[in-house]
Amino acid sequence: MPRKLFVTTALPYANGPFHIGHIMEYTQADIWVRFQRLQGHKVHFVCADDTHGAPIMLKAEAEGISPEELIARVAESHRRDLARFGVSFDHFHSTHSEENRELAAQIFAALREAGFIATRTIEQFFDPVKGMFLPDRYIKGECPKCGAKDQYGDSCESCGAVYTPTDLKNPFSALTGATPVMKKSEHFFFRLSDPRCVEFLKSWTQDGRLQPEVANKVREWLDGGLNDWDITRDAPYFGIEIPGEKGKYFYVWLDAPIGYLASLRSYLEKKGLDVAKVLADPKLEQIHFIGKDIIYFHTLFWPAMLKFAGRKVPDNVFVHGFLTLTGEKLSKSRGITVSPQKYADLGLNPEWLRYYLAAKLNARVEDLDFNPDDFLARVNSDLVGKYVNIASRAAGFIAKRFAGRLSEEPLSAGRELKHKLRGNVAAPAPDDEEQVPAILFEVRSFADQIAADYDAREFGKAIRQVMFLADRVNQYVDEQKPWEIAKEAGQEAALQWFCTLYLELFRILTIYLKPVLPKVAEDVEAFLGLAKPLTWEDVPSALKPGHVVQPYRHLLSRIDPKQIAELLEPPAEAKPEAPKPAAGAAPEFRLEPVEPPKPAPILPVGETISIDDFGKIDLRVARIVDAELVPDADKLLKLTLDIGIETRTVFAGIRSAYTPKELVGRLTVMVANLAPRKMRFGESQGMVLAAGDGSSIYLLAPDAGATPGMRIK
Ligand code: MSP
Ligand code: ZN
Repeated sequence: MPRKLFVTTALPYANGPFHIGHIMEYTQADIWVRFQRLQGHKVHFVCADDTHGAPIMLKAEAEGISPEELIARVAESHRRDLARFGVSFDHFHSTHSEENRELAAQIFAALREAGFIATRTIEQFFDPVKGMFLPDRYIKGECPKCGAKDQYGDSCESCGAVYTPTDLKNPFSALTGATPVMKKSEHFFFRLSDPRCVEFLKSWTQDGRLQPEVANKVREWLDGGLNDWDITRDAPYFGIEIPGEKGKYFYVWLDAPIGYLASLRSYLEKKGLDVAKVLADPKLEQIHFIGKDIIYFHTLFWPAMLKFAGRKVPDNVFVHGFLTLTGEKLSKSRGITVSPQKYADLGLNPEWLRYYLAAKLNARVEDLDFNPDDFLARVNSDLVGKYVNIASRAAGFIAKRFAGRLSEEPLSAGRELKHKLRGNVAAPAPDDEEQVPAILFEVRSFADQIAADYDAREFGKAIRQVMFLADRVNQYVDEQKPWEIAKEAGQEAALQWFCTLYLELFRILTIYLKPVLPKVAEDVEAFLGLAKPLTWEDVPSALKPGHVVQPYRHLLSRIDPKQIAELLEPPAEAKPEAPKPAAGAAPEFRLEPVEPPKPAPILPVGETISIDDFGKIDLRVARIVDAELVPDADKLLKLTLDIGIETRTVFAGIRSAYTPKELVGRLTVMVANLAPRKMRFGESQGMVLAAGDGSSIYLLAPDAGATPGMRIK
């Protein structure tokens, strides 16, 4: 039975362009939604700008424009980026909309009716010059605890003390510098402390639906006791005026989540559908993707508001951690950021980023590090080097030798063809009724596991499985050596059959990656000449015998390290603008079959050594800052390695596997205390580590976050 899903991401504040963290959240939700759609489930996926509140009002004022003008400008930028990064929202609305005004009023009235709204007079700081009540963050003063000057109204950055604005010594308004005065005002409170509310939240948050770490956090809040929630703000305020209450507005966080419903309603009405009916469907699952900073709002306020206004409550809230930039080191020390706008403007492929984020995402509330080296390595060696490589290896022969036509033989014909082929590798797996080659059976058999990982938001696991399969397929190609079959007379049918099998395997891997790489998948569908877009159901339905495919155009280029360098440039101060490469003008990459790595012989484990023996080897993380060819030595590359304290020159026998260009910038592992060795070309001061033998070489790389000079133990 198809699921019915209503999915949202957190609504971004309409005060500026997206940063990379927004893109991460939207990509996470988008991958999940695309996956559900590929499964045949029905999804309404909506978002909106969160437009209200004092910061937006004050920002517009500072720019000399109206808040409406500001949010219109930001909405345009947001829409543009969503399109560029392939986020498939059905609708992107605004909380500053008629739908939201109406829904907020209805929900407030229902809560009031049910006795969940209290009225209280409170006393707050008021800026007499500006004529407005001051939100905590606009009040500054001296810390009541340590006396540090210029601290915000809620906490001290110097000693960490937490307090209320009225505790500050010598408070002043951050807006005008005026000394604030205390002023009374009547406010509405949502009675979160009502026993009915507490009881409902205890059950909704602790019944196993939430991620365990989220449920624990919420339990701490519940155990600490819930406070009633002040939902009123006094004029001047940019927001929704409370009906019948002149000069009183809903606090932005009241109308913001209602924006989820407003966006859904606006979307469904445009399609001529009835929102009440859609929401009343007991099968509808309502799911919100959010970051860890807004858990309180989404697991306490929001479900309680809906519940006691007599509406459908969310089915789940999926929380993610924060994206950081190599542990914030780059950003803090050198002002470097990764701007999604710059990323797109420079012509970097959005699907590279989607792939990288997917490879790092899981279902836990963990921060995730954007590491430029890791980004480059994963995209170039995994995505392009493993997955895209399969298509480019097969496509050349199919185009050149068979005018794009696939084999007429069914894939299960491997057994009959095998006498002309190498060994038994086209043989089926013993338990396969269809008798297709074992490799195809294996690749197909991962469909359910990969689907389960996507569904559980374990995207990193899903990607690892797909890359494992891509490795297997490449190994298989290496064993079969189609480039050798191509040279043998009378083996056309075998060659055509093999290339057909490779394309079939590639087609299945494309389905597995489609939630992450929608554009690549679309290009593959065009290349394979498919009548309709691939879905998960298509895993077992193979390409038809004799089918004709289109000429192969490369699907995805590698990242040039220069592009990353440009992306990471610190914000330029009035630098002349560099000419922008046209979209798609990324560097070309080789299409011809790459040199096949031979499967390494399995050697027995060596002689036992003591931990002290091992301890003598000083292994270090090293950054390859330069790599060049060595004249007259066709096996060697000359590497310049940065190991934090010094740079070393190492001659490494890895030229058959790497070009200098793809090495520069990468991290690897070196033996730092190896006795230097005089060579014909100069002195080699150490050794880099690689797996494999002379014909297949895999340079080692540390995991994300390692820095040059780190000791390896
Ligand atoms: N407007 C509120 C949400 C209202 S939802 C009814 C808001 N906006 S935000 O623009 O600050 O954040 C939007 C989403 O981006 C939030 O889920 C937030 O957690 C997420 N992120 C903000 N910075 C982030 C990272 N550095 N990394 C990942 N997500 C981040 O909060
Ligand atoms: Zn202090």
